[in-house]
Amino acid sequence: MSIENKYKALELEKPGIYELEGLEVGVTSNCNFKCDYCCAYQRNDGQCISSKEVIGIIDDIPTLKRVRLSGGEVTLKYQDCLDIVAHCSSKGIATQLNTNASLLSPERIERLRDAGLSNIHISFNFTDAEKYSAYYHVHPRMYETIVQNIRLCTEAKLETVLETLLFEETQNNMQAISEMVYELGVRIHEIQNSIVMDHTNWNAISTKEALVRSVHDLIAHKKEDTVLYFTCMDRFAEALGFKEQPGVYFSNCVDGKKQLHLHGNGDILICELCHPVVIGNIYNGTSLKDIYTHRPKPLQEFLDKLPCPAYDALFPKGI
Ligand SMILES: C[S@@+](CC[C@H](N)C(=O)[O-])C[C@H]1O[C@@H](n2cnc3c(N)ncnc32)[C@H](O)[C@@H]1O
Ligand code: SF4
Ligand code: SF4
Repeated sequence: MSIENKYKALELEKPGIYELEGLEVGVTSNCNFKCDYCCAYQRNDGQCISSKEVIGIIDDIPTLKRVRLSGGEVTLKYQDCLDIVAHCSSKGIATQLNTNASLLSPERIERLRDAGLSNIHISFNFTDAEKYSAYYHVHPRMYETIVQNIRLCTEAKLETVLETLLFEETQNNMQAISEMVYELGVRIHEIQNSIVMDHTNWNAISTKEALVRSVHDLIAHKKEDTVLYFTCMDRFAEALGFKEQPGVYFSNCVDGKKQLHLHGNGDILICELCHPVVIGNIYNGTSLKDIYTHRPKPLQEFLDKLPCPAYDALFPKGI
């Protein structure tokens, strides 16, 4: 496991100049799961974008450094993902594939690795099959599948990031989750702060107290050969007393500043998590190549108002 992660590098420096260095592609918004917390834009609307189309777009953005494939469950369109990853790696562009890991197999994992995928990023929120099954309304055997696929990823030496959403269901089990991440052979653990979903009224986010406790505990118990990335916390990390140290990063938010989301129907969004505002559509004349030169009005408004629009919902009473 390399401490320097090529895909994550973009988040380790504060965005200075606004230009498109990261693209999140919703290859498909369809999904085989129905998580309550899901932030996917127009989930299951049937909109997909082909690898041919995506590759053309990538080739038209000279500033691009990384591409994230995230839907939906993009492995439903496995071959498209594979083709995009192979193309990016031939151009030196880092890639990450976000997945629930339910549809992986030894062959699929090896082919993604051989195509040059930088990171496979897997959601991992539960330490036992019963709780997993009860929360996601899937058969408990699915948990064994997920766990087995995570092991296969690490055994295949595919760089694996397990991501835990810090929310009501996980806030009192973060240490056990972290230990299981390690036991599964994974050395990169991303802790994603939970964001309220205005469109579905989902707001089972963690309490401020649990968030503070979890972050301090995870850092205190961090093993030397692991890396922790805390995501969507940079806005308030300092005020809550969180400090970076070797192997502990409070990733800088790049959404809207250096990264945009492309949906299957061509819509371009600022941040799928907290600001799913459409700023253009590639089929209606919006060009990603010079979007930061000709900033559409909603993008300029977002950049004028920075930082994160989710902040008030996270801490309604302030820090
Ligand atoms: C929309 S999912 C798509 C990838 C894949 N289907 C999965 O669930 O991992 C991408 C990431 O968004 C995160 N996510 C979903 N809803 C969220 C929320 N309300 N707040 C913060 N992160 C969220 C998930 O944890 C997941 O890692
Ligand atoms: S698996 Fe991912 S895309 Fe599917 S419902 Fe859950 S969070 Fe959303
Ligand atoms: S704008 Fe806010 S919610 Fe969106 S990625 Fe950045 S910190 Fe997270």
